Amino acid sequence: MAIQWSIILSAIVVLFLIALLSRSRRSSAPVLTSDWFFGYLTLFRMLTQYNDLLVEGYAKFNKHAFQLPGIRGWIVFVGRELYDDLRKAKDDTLSFSEEITDTISMEYTIGRAYATDLWHNAVIRKQMTQALGPKFPEVYDETVCAFEDELRLSRTEWNSVHAHGLILSVICRASNRLFVGLPLCRDPVYTQISRDFSGTVIAAGVTISLFPKLLKPLVGRWVTAAPRARRRFEKFLVPMIEERRRKEQEMGELWEKEKPSDLLQWLLDASKEHNPTAEDITTRILGINFGAMHTTALGFLHVLYWLAAHPEYAPVLREDVDHALANYGWTKEALGKMHKLDSFIKECMRFTGLTVTAMGRKAVKDVILSDGTFVPKGAKVVMNAWSIQHDPAVFYKPLEFDPWRYSSRIARGESEALNSLATASGEFFLWGGGAHVCPGRYFASQEMKTMLLVIVSRYDVKFEGLPKRVRPKDTWTSFSCLPDLKQRVMFKRRE
Ligand code: HEM
Repeated sequence: MAIQWSIILSAIVVLFLIALLSRSRRSSAPVLTSDWFFGYLTLFRMLTQYNDLLVEGYAKFNKHAFQLPGIRGWIVFVGRELYDDLRKAKDDTLSFSEEITDTISMEYTIGRAYATDLWHNAVIRKQMTQALGPKFPEVYDETVCAFEDELRLSRTEWNSVHAHGLILSVICRASNRLFVGLPLCRDPVYTQISRDFSGTVIAAGVTISLFPKLLKPLVGRWVTAAPRARRRFEKFLVPMIEERRRKEQEMGELWEKEKPSDLLQWLLDASKEHNPTAEDITTRILGINFGAMHTTALGFLHVLYWLAAHPEYAPVLREDVDHALANYGWTKEALGKMHKLDSFIKECMRFTGLTVTAMGRKAVKDVILSDGTFVPKGAKVVMNAWSIQHDPAVFYKPLEFDPWRYSSRIARGESEALNSLATASGEFFLWGGGAHVCPGRYFASQEMKTMLLVIVSRYDVKFEGLPKRVRPKDTWTSFSCLPDLKQRVMFKRRE
C-alpha cells in the first residue's frame, strides 16, 4: 500500500513539474541550452554540472544575464552589473521569503510564525551583534573546551578524527554558549537535537517543496521529523523561559541587573510587543540554530581542509595571532587585527565557497531589471556568484588559492572593512546581500576565526594518506559545493 501511494505521489509530482515549467513564463534573457522537453533535460544536467553551465553562460553572454530552467520555473542568472538590482530589491518585487518558501518550505518544517514574522532577525542584527565583544571570552572558552573534549589528545601522539563531526560539535557548543549559555550548551541531548535539526529540515523542506501548494501541509505532516525535534527542544527551553518570565515578575528591577546575557534573553526582552508563547520563542531558537549550524560547519570544514593540506600556512597564521594578542590581549579587538587569519578564511570562501549562486529572489510580479531584462512573475533571479568570484577582471589570478589575498590589500593601504570576511559585497557573496544579507555574519565570522585561532595556536593538523597539498575532493551537487563529509584529519597537541 505504502509503495502504491509513493508511486501515485511521484507521478503527481512529475506531472506537476512538467505542467509548471511548460506553462511558466520566460524572461527576455537568452536561454543557454536547449529547451527541448520543457528544459527538463538541461535540468538533469544541472544536478551535477550546475557550475559548468553557469561558467559557460557567463563567458558566452559576456557576463550579461541568461536563463536556465529550474524545477519550478525559469531562473535568470545575472552578473555584477545587476548586483544593485538585487541588493536594492524589495520583497514586494523580488522576494527572498518566497524563494525560501519554494526551496525549503520553512513554514511546514520550522513553523509558520518563524517563516512569516521575522522579528528575531532584528535581535540577531542588533542585540546579539553588539554583544559579540563582551561575550567573546565565553565563546572562546567554549571553543577551547569543545576542541579539548572532542579531541582527547595525549601529550605527544597524532590522533585521527572525523573532521565534520568534530567541527559540528564545536560549533554547536560555541554557538549555543551565546544562544542559551551554560550548562545547556553542553547538554548532550540538546546539542544532538540542534546538530540533527538542519539535516531534518533541509531533507524534508526539499521534498515538500516539490509538491503543489495544496498538498504541502499533508506531505509536511508525513515527511518531516521537524515537529518532533521541536517538541524535544521545548522540553529544555519552555521551563527555562517560564522561569525567566517568573523571575522578571518577582524580582522587578533587580532582574534587570541579574538576568542572563544570551540570545534567549535578548529575544525575551524584544518579544514583549509580539507577545509570543514560550513555544514560539523555542521555535525561533531552533530556527536560528538551523541557520547557524551547518552553514558555519561546512564553511569551516573547507578552511580546515585547506590548512591540513598546506601545513606550511600554520606558522604564518600563528605569527599573525601572536602579534595581535601581544598588542590587544584576548579580546574581540585582537581578533579584528588578525588580518591574515581573516584573509585565509575569506579566500577559502571565495575559492571554494558553499554555493555557486547567491541572493536568490523570486519575482512576485513582472519586473524589468536595469539592463532592460524582463523577468516575469514566478521566475527567479540569482547572482552568478562563482563566476564573478573567479573572474580575472575582478580578481588577480582568480584560479590560484592565495591565502593572503585580502591581508595584502590591507597592508597596501586598502580598506580594512571592505576586505574583511564579514563584509558582503558585489565581489564576495558568502553572506548574500541587500535587505536579507545574513544577520549572523559577524558572529559566524568571529566563530570561524576563533576556531582557526584555537587550532593553529594549540594543535598541528595534517591529512592521513593524502599527498601534501592535496585536499579531499569536493562534491558538487546542484548549486552547492560541499567539502568531503567523511574525511578524517590528524591532530597533535603542540609542544
Ligand atoms: C558561515 C556561516 C553562514 C553563512 C555562509 C550564512 C549565509 C547566509 C545567506 C547566504 C543568507 C541569505 C542572504 C541573502 O539571500 O541575501 C543568510 C540568511 C540568514 N542567516 Fe546566515 N549564514 C551563516 C551563519 C549564520 C548564523 C551564525 C546565523 C545566526 C546566528 C545566521 C542567521 C541567518 C538568518 C536568520 C538569515 C535570514 C535573514 C532574513 O530572513 O532576512 N546565519 N545566511
